[in-house]
Order: sequence, then C-alpha cells, then structure tokens
Amino acid sequence: MTTWSIREVPVSETADAPEAWLLHGYTGAMNDGLLHAWGNRDFERTATEILGSMHDQKYDRKPRLVAVADDAHDAPDPDRVLGYAMINLPQQDNTHTGHVEVGVRPDHRRQGIGSSLFDAALALVRDAGRTQVTASSDQQVEPPEGPGTLAATTGVGRVAIDADGPRFLSKRGFALEQVERYSVFDLPFDPELMAKQRAEAEAHAGPDYRLVTWQSHVPEEWIESYALLNTRMSTDAPLGGIDLEEDVWDAERVRTLEKQYQERELELLVLAAEHIPTHTLAAFTCFMAVPNSDEFVHQDDTLVLKEHRGKRLGMLIKAANLQRLAAERPTVRRVGTWNAEENSYMLGINVALGFRPAGGSGEWQLKLS
Ligand SMILES: CC(C)(COP(=O)(O)OP(=O)(O)OC[C@H]1O[C@@H](n2cnc3c(N)ncnc32)[C@H](O)[C@@H]1OP(=O)(O)O)[C@@H](O)C(=O)NCCC(=O)NCCS
Repeated sequence: MTTWSIREVPVSETADAPEAWLLHGYTGAMNDGLLHAWGNRDFERTATEILGSMHDQKYDRKPRLVAVADDAHDAPDPDRVLGYAMINLPQQDNTHTGHVEVGVRPDHRRQGIGSSLFDAALALVRDAGRTQVTASSDQQVEPPEGPGTLAATTGVGRVAIDADGPRFLSKRGFALEQVERYSVFDLPFDPELMAKQRAEAEAHAGPDYRLVTWQSHVPEEWIESYALLNTRMSTDAPLGGIDLEEDVWDAERVRTLEKQYQERELELLVLAAEHIPTHTLAAFTCFMAVPNSDEFVHQDDTLVLKEHRGKRLGMLIKAANLQRLAAERPTVRRVGTWNAEENSYMLGINVALGFRPAGGSGEWQLKLS
C-alpha cells in the first residue's frame, strides 16, 4: 500500500537547484493531469515557468504542496511526487478568498491522496483568515442537459456530476457557481473573410478610434490607461455567483507583472483601441505566447470599457490582433480562449470569428464557516 507525505515546494533560486526535484515533481504531476484531462499538450507547463511565478508573490501568496511517496532513502526523484496542490492567496484585494487547485497523477487516484492534499490546502486557506475558497474542474466536452448533470447557479452551462473533479468538489460542499466554455481558433484563416470582418467593424466604430499595439512592455504613454483596463477587467467579465470584488491595478503592478512574465518567458501581444478625443484606451485584447510551444497561444484578456460598448470595438480589436498574430507568429496553429457561458457578447464575437467549442470548466465556491 502506498503511503505519502505532504510537503511544500521550496522556492529555489533556479530550477537546477538540488531541492528543485520537488518543483520538477510538481510540474510532472500537473502535466500528467493536464494530458489526461485534455488529451493534448497545449496547457503543458515548464518547471522554470512555474518557478518564475513563485518568485513573484507581491500580489498573491502562492504556497505549492506536493504528495510525495514515502521512501526510506528520501531519494530526490520527481516521479515520487504523486499529486500537487496550488494555493493562491490574494494579498491586496479579495483578501477574503483563496483559490485551490488539486491534482493527482491519473494512475494514483482513489487512494486518498487528493483528499489529503485538499485538507492541507484548506488548512492554509483557513490559517490565512479566508472566509471562502474557489476551485475549478476541467471538462473536454460540456454534457448535454439531462440526468447525471449539474447546472451552474447562473442557469447556463453544465458539468457531468460523476466526473472526478465535480464529484470531489461537490462532496466537499462546493457550489457550482459558473461554467466556462473553452474554444479554439485554428490557423491559418481565410484572410479575405478576416479583412472583411475587420473593415465592417472599423466602419461601425468610426473615426474616433485608432489601434495601437505593443508586445510585453507597455509604453509609458499608455500605462495608466492600461492599468485602468486591467482593474475593470476584474469585475466587468461576468463572474456568475463567484464572490469577488474589484482588483485594483496601477502602473507599479503592471510593471511587476511584466518582470514576472519576462522571467517565465511568457510573451504578450497586446492590441488596444485608443479613443482619440480623450487620448485614453477604450478597449484591449491580448495573446500570451508560452515558452514550450510555437504552435499554441492563449487568448488572454479582452475588454471594451462599458462607456465604449455597442460600437463593434470587440470585433475590431480581435480581428486585428488575429491578423497581427498570423503575420508576426506564422508557426501558430491554435488559439485557446475561455469565456463564461453567460457571456453572450464575447461568445458571439468569438463564434463569428470561427472559434469552435472545445470543452470548458466548472467554477466552484465554498463558503467557510
Ligand atoms: C479530484 C482529484 C484531485 C481526486 O484525487 P484522488 O486522489 O482520486 O482523491 P481521493 O482518493 O482522496 O478521493 C477520490 C475518491 O476515491 C475514494 N478513495 C479514497 N481512498 C480510497 C481507497 N483506498 N480505495 C478506494 N477508493 C478510495 C474516495 O472515497 C473518493 O471517492 P468518491 O469520489 O466516491 O467520494 C483527482 O481526480 C484529479 O486530479 N482530478 C483532476 C483535477 C481536478 O478535477 N481537481 C479537482 C478540482 S481542484
């Protein structure tokens, strides 16, 4: 019978440090779970990228736990790591909440490892004085309505109640507060159709808007305006029943994240719409390129400020950034994006552009007494 111990992953200086075998085990267990959940390697991560995130804990405290198979010699073998827990504890806003992700290597499930990781994670969340905890469960396909499914409290979207994640979380009292749709856009695309969609949106938006682009480093000219977009992003995208307050961004926080992303070798392709009369940014969209794939990018945030909605800026910025992606990163074959199932405006744009449904997630919340 396997026995295991729960340990915290040390924040080593580099991924080559002797104690970093726990970090490599954490990474391996996470990647095993992702491959099992999705049947592809698009979300696979590297130890260096994970460590880079752990180095920056200014705005989130980030304990990472592992379940390590007991071994009399305590051999520094990453394969001894059977499961992991990721805990995020916001430090500036939303200090009432913590986010937990628990994963167990598929071959080692149903032995109690997930439960002991979860208990240890929850103890950290409680010790930090948090009154609620959130978690997610992934699914390759959203099940059709019917028996064996659970609907989100929003009324939109479902998960299969007997799948590993939903079963685990609902047994622990979590409520399914939202379902997200994952969608994939395949490249190359029809350039004429994309140009037409962009031109129509441009005509509708009118002469008050002009597109500006940058990569990972925000030009000083736009940093305050970009920080405001990020603040609004925290509450303007639908949150379902998830209890989160505004998460405030300023220039310092934007620069801190830039440094973190540089260490993690994550690259951004940001495209924004300037509102010319006020010289402020009205909207933005962003791709995130990852270090271990030149075929896959994440669609990161997209937002049109409330006061600029209804002018097709959403379609304009997304079509323009896809054109730019094809020109600047010709090896990219897939863009992956996440949207709340009730976010009909964003989903409408994505579907019109050619994004296809490719699974999703359940977003869960537990109030702690
Ligand atoms: C959810 C997950 C973490 C559970 O991990 P796990 O190690 O299988 O969890 P446990 O073994 O503690 O519990 C799972 C089941 O195994 C059962 N079990 C525990 N020990 C057992 C044993 N020795 N023999 C047989 N069954 C056992 C538990 O009772 C539980 O059964 P239930 O679902 O009928 O209640 C795992 O399935 C996983 O990694 N899923 C993907 C990621 C995910 O969805 N995470 C959850 C959201 S954060």
